[in-house]
Amino acid sequence: MKTLIQFISEKQADFPFATGEFTRLLNDIGIAAKLVNREVNKAGLADINGYFGQQNVQGEDQKKLDVFANDCFLTAMRHGGMVCAVASEENDELYTYDNAFSQKGKYVVAMDPLDGSSNIEVNVPIGTIFSIYRRKSESGPGTVEDLLQPGNRQIAAGYIIYGSSTMLVYTTGHGVNGFTLDPSVGLFLLSHPEMTIPEGGNIYSINEANYIYFHEGVKQFIKFCQQDDPATLRPYTTRYIGSLVSDFHRNLIRGGIYIYPGTLKNPNGKLRLLYECNPIAFLAEQAGGKASTGYERILDIQPESLHQRVPFFVGTRHMVEKAEEFMRKNA
Ligand code: AHG
Ligand code: MN
Ligand code: MN
Ligand code: MN
Repeated sequence: MKTLIQFISEKQADFPFATGEFTRLLNDIGIAAKLVNREVNKAGLADINGYFGQQNVQGEDQKKLDVFANDCFLTAMRHGGMVCAVASEENDELYTYDNAFSQKGKYVVAMDPLDGSSNIEVNVPIGTIFSIYRRKSESGPGTVEDLLQPGNRQIAAGYIIYGSSTMLVYTTGHGVNGFTLDPSVGLFLLSHPEMTIPEGGNIYSINEANYIYFHEGVKQFIKFCQQDDPATLRPYTTRYIGSLVSDFHRNLIRGGIYIYPGTLKNPNGKLRLLYECNPIAFLAEQAGGKASTGYERILDIQPESLHQRVPFFVGTRHMVEKAEEFMRKNA
C-alpha cells in the first residue's frame, strides 16, 4: 500500500514551485498527528484529561489536550523550518518562529490543533485542522498579513480525525485523498483515494438546541429537511457529534449538510474562518461539494483578523444550495 509520504512525493508535479519542501511540511504535520494520536488514545489512563487552567482568546477554557496538541504541531513545524508563522486557535497572537532557518520558510499555517475538545472525556472522535498558504512577505518573521489571505489562495488543507481509526485527509487543489494510520507500523496508508461527497446523502447536522435563535431561513431549511418526500430522501436524518471534523468527515463519506449558522446572540456563528471554515471549505469543494456563509462562498472572503468567525454551511452541493435559497428568500 502507498504511504502518505510516497503519495505526496509522487504528487510533487502538482506544484509549480515544487522543491520537496512542501513534502517535508506535510510529513512534519503527519509526525505531530501521530504524537497527538498517541496521547488521545490513552486519554482515560494518563493525566491528560481535563482543563489546563487558562482561557484562549475566544474565552474558552483550554483543555490539557488543546495545549498539548498545539505544542506538538508548533514544535514539529519548527524542526522542518518550512513555516515562518502559525495562526492557531490556542494562541491569541500570531506565532512566529525566532530561528533564522524557519524565518526563511516559504509557508504560513493556520490550525485548530484540537477540534471538538469538549468531546475528549467522552471518547468521541476529535480532530486537528490545518490550512497552508505561501507567505506574502519576502523574509524574516511571518506577519499577520501573510495569514489574512482569502481561502481561495490556500495551497493545501486537511484534517486528522482521531476516531475508531485515525485518518489524515488532505487536498492540494487536485482532489481529496484520505490516509488511515496503521498503528502497528506507525504509517499513514492511502485508504480513501479521490474522495467525493455523495449527491444522494440524507444527513443534516446542526445544533438544533439553538433553534429559537436561528435566522428564519435556517428554520425553514430545517423544516424542509423534515418534510416527507421519499423521492428526495426526505425526511433527512439528523447526525450531530459536536466536533466539526467528525461531523464533516461523516458527511463527506455519506453525503449531507453541516450548518453552524449565525444566531441572534452570535450573528457570525461560532466557527473560525482561518482554521476551521477555510480548510474544510477547500476540502468540500475539492470533493465536489460546496461551502457558504448562507449567502457567499467561504473561500472568497477577505479575512480581517486571525480569529474571525463566520456562519458556515458545508456539504453536498444541492443541499447547501437549497439552504442558501431559504436564506435569500428570508433575508
Ligand atoms: P473547538 O473544540 O476547536 O473549540 O471547536 C468546537 C467547535 C466545533 O468542533 C464544533 O462543530 C462546534 O464547536 C460545536 O459547537 P456547539 O457545541 O455549539 O454545537
Ligand atoms: Mn476551542
Ligand atoms: Mn474547532
Ligand atoms: Mn480547537
